Amino acid sequence: MYRQFIKPLLFSLSIERAHRIVMLFLRFVGLIPGGRWLLHKCYAVEHPLLEREVFGIRFKNPVGLAAGFDRNGEAYRELAALGFGFVEIGTITPRPQSGNPRPRIFRLPKDRAIINRIGLANRGLEATIRHLRRPHDGVIVGCNIGKNTSTPVENASNDYLKLFRNLYQYADYFTVNISCDNACREGATHTREHILRILEPLFDFRRGQNQYRPIMLKVSPDMPDEVVDRVTDILLETPLDGIVAVNGTHSREGLQTSRTSLEKIGNGRLGGAPLTQRAVEIVRRIHTRSGGTYPIIGVGGLMTPDDVRAMLEAGADLVQLYTGYIYEGPGLVGEICRSLIADEERRQAEVARTQTADTLPSQTASGDQSQPRSEAGSPADEERAAAATASDSIPAEENTAQPSSIETDSESSEQKAEPTPARNGREPGKQA
Ligand SMILES: Cc1cc2nc3c(=O)[nH]c(=O)nc-3n(C[C@H](O)[C@H](O)[C@H](O)COP(=O)(O)O)c2cc1C
Repeated sequence: MYRQFIKPLLFSLSIERAHRIVMLFLRFVGLIPGGRWLLHKCYAVEHPLLEREVFGIRFKNPVGLAAGFDRNGEAYRELAALGFGFVEIGTITPRPQSGNPRPRIFRLPKDRAIINRIGLANRGLEATIRHLRRPHDGVIVGCNIGKNTSTPVENASNDYLKLFRNLYQYADYFTVNISCDNACREGATHTREHILRILEPLFDFRRGQNQYRPIMLKVSPDMPDEVVDRVTDILLETPLDGIVAVNGTHSREGLQTSRTSLEKIGNGRLGGAPLTQRAVEIVRRIHTRSGGTYPIIGVGGLMTPDDVRAMLEAGADLVQLYTGYIYEGPGLVGEICRSLIADEERRQAEVARTQTADTLPSQTASGDQSQPRSEAGSPADEERAAAATASDSIPAEENTAQPSSIETDSESSEQKAEPTPARNGREPGKQA
């Protein structure tokens, strides 16, 4: 249905117009009683074998929607009803910004790719909070945060902290987007100093909270391997929880689209099929260097169930889709989920056969994805345990305050154990 009718219609429009129509449609469906239930019935696949626990959160399935699709958190419940196990909203900046002049998103059908230079267009923190105040209904929401384009790089940490503080109670996890928002390259933003300058105030703020919110760092695929290693080492040395790898690439290598068309399009990040191999390589490198014990969200060029399988085998715990979803449509999530169930059933059957053959005493399967991967003892684990203890000591009803307004940069980030509400049906402090 999507490939035959809807895709040709949407692809006849500019990509931004098509996106606006889809978002309007989803919001409309969300307003109709039973609308989300119907979407769920048509598209979502549920099965215990898909469930897994990553950074203390229980996911119904490991397939999420990548940042950039629901930039303002307008339709995360409807998108989850389409079958996603989680939705990453944003990138959100403190103030609204209109981004780069249009046209700024381009399809490359010959390469099954998209180039974008949106420039982090979004409606800002206040508008996002208005959307996130609605009940999440069990949807796992990641907030992807970035700095305003007009904020100088040396003041970037203020923007991140402001977003983190004000969104803390609404997000299940955070992704810190350090990739630069315009045509610049990553040289300046993927340094250890720059990353720590952004992350440390967030760790400090989190230490004073009674609920733990995992912090992920989203990285560029254009880093040389030494930089990938340096960024991975930050995982090992700080309470950073994990890495989202990767954003779109500036590379134009190996594309079928003509040089002339590419020159006409100009700058921007490319996502889609040409990115698959590099994204998988980076995830494998991070996984290996970090000893396979830190959560990784694999994203980049995941167009088919096979791509997702390769990403999980490289060490990703969760995956996210963007360009693949545009090209393949809403059926892709279900297709991936069904193939993951089949893989897991095969694997379990294989384990059972081996155990019977060896007549070994029963034991847990070694690759059980439903177990948390982080080992106790990492800096992030220590902080999560501390947050859980702090929260457990606070009565639930005291733990449900709503902030009256957006906190400003000047307010202290050391308000110890500021109460935060139980959301999404989970108890405060208890990771799902
Ligand atoms: C139109 C568009 C907008 C995007 N906006 C964002 C964004 O605001 N923040 C972000 O971290 N990534 C953004 N991304 C990057 C995606 O989240 C993803 O990392 C990248 O496209 C690679 O995945 P893919 O190959 O599946 O598209 C955007 C991608 C596209 C295509």
